[in-house]
Amino acid sequence: MIFLVDHFFEGKELLNRIPIRGKDKLIFADVTYEPKTTYVDKIAQSLKDEFGKVSGVIGIGGGSTLDLAKGVSLMMNNPGSSADYQGWDLVKVPGVYKAGIPTLSGTGAEVSRTTVLTGPTRKLGMNSDFTPFDQIVLDPQLTANVPANQRFYTGMDCYIHCIESLQGTYLNEFSKSYGEKALQLCQKIFVEKDHWDDESDEQLMMASYAGGMSIAYSQVGVAHAVSYGLSYLLGTKHGIGNCIVFDKLEEFYPAGVEEFKKMIEKNKIDIPQNITAGLSDDDFDKMINVSLGMKPLWENALGKSWEKQMTRDKLRKLYERL
Ligand SMILES: NC(=O)c1ccc[n+]([C@@H]2O[C@H](COP(=O)([O-])OP(=O)(O)OC[C@H]3O[C@@H](n4cnc5c(N)ncnc54)[C@H](O)[C@@H]3O)[C@@H](O)[C@H]2O)c1
Ligand SMILES: [Fe+2]
Repeated sequence: MIFLVDHFFEGKELLNRIPIRGKDKLIFADVTYEPKTTYVDKIAQSLKDEFGKVSGVIGIGGGSTLDLAKGVSLMMNNPGSSADYQGWDLVKVPGVYKAGIPTLSGTGAEVSRTTVLTGPTRKLGMNSDFTPFDQIVLDPQLTANVPANQRFYTGMDCYIHCIESLQGTYLNEFSKSYGEKALQLCQKIFVEKDHWDDESDEQLMMASYAGGMSIAYSQVGVAHAVSYGLSYLLGTKHGIGNCIVFDKLEEFYPAGVEEFKKMIEKNKIDIPQNITAGLSDDDFDKMINVSLGMKPLWENALGKSWEKQMTRDKLRKLYERL
């Protein structure tokens, strides 16, 4: 078994709880930057060199580590580079057994059918039926010491998943049932309660799970499509990038954005402003290309004729406001 553990836990007590035996190996995942296809390929290749085959990969960490674990598991059995599989249903062979243990709540990576990777030409997931974990362990105690800012940004990833799923054209009863539950939990934690306790950690962990289930059979929307461009060009992290974008999406999600602004105020969070100031035309073009490449996200958000509504020019104006 390969334990891929978020580097945050180097030297921490959690390591004593990992039952390493025989040829098991613990690898720390460097998540300074969100996962790249090159990093997935490198870990998978080193495991092939050392062991030939492995019994399984267990990811323990935030969304970045969980995605790495999913990617490495798939690349143990699929030829080529993980970059070859960025897209929808390109993975044809199951990976090795994989399990996920989240230590940060919000991304829904513990249940989703994607692993989001930055590759040579795009930031796009390996979306496939073989991508989800075989098993997950949800232990809210593992999230007890997450700094409040990080908790908020990753928590808002979940909130935004709910809004984008529930307001999307891909909505169905499956996604609606999970999305409504996750949204209700987020509202409880970030709008109604005025302190953070163990119950909040439990609630956010279940919100993340349900939010992830909701998008499994629907899609995310405008905030994600735009934030992927930021992340590709500027390396903006997923949670904070979504917040920077969602803050300006009143045209698309009026009620959600209004509530989001209340949550920012109540939780005393600063959302960075003017992060695209001074970028060149070429930079804007790169972000627009990455963003408009996320066709299912736009179609979910705006319907089949989305290309008429979200022109390059309109998207450029939106990027300029961030
Ligand atoms: N697969 C999916 O469905 C999906 C969905 C949304 C986002 N994502 C991806 O997830 C990534 C973002 O994940 P994230 O927001 O969970 O952040 P992250 O995994 O990048 O971690 C953020 C920081 O928190 C630290 N950390 C992790 N656990 C901690 C703990 N218990 N206490 C203190 N610090 C801890 C990490 O070391 C890191 O420094 C992005 O790469 C994004 O693309 C994937
Ligand atoms: Fe997300």
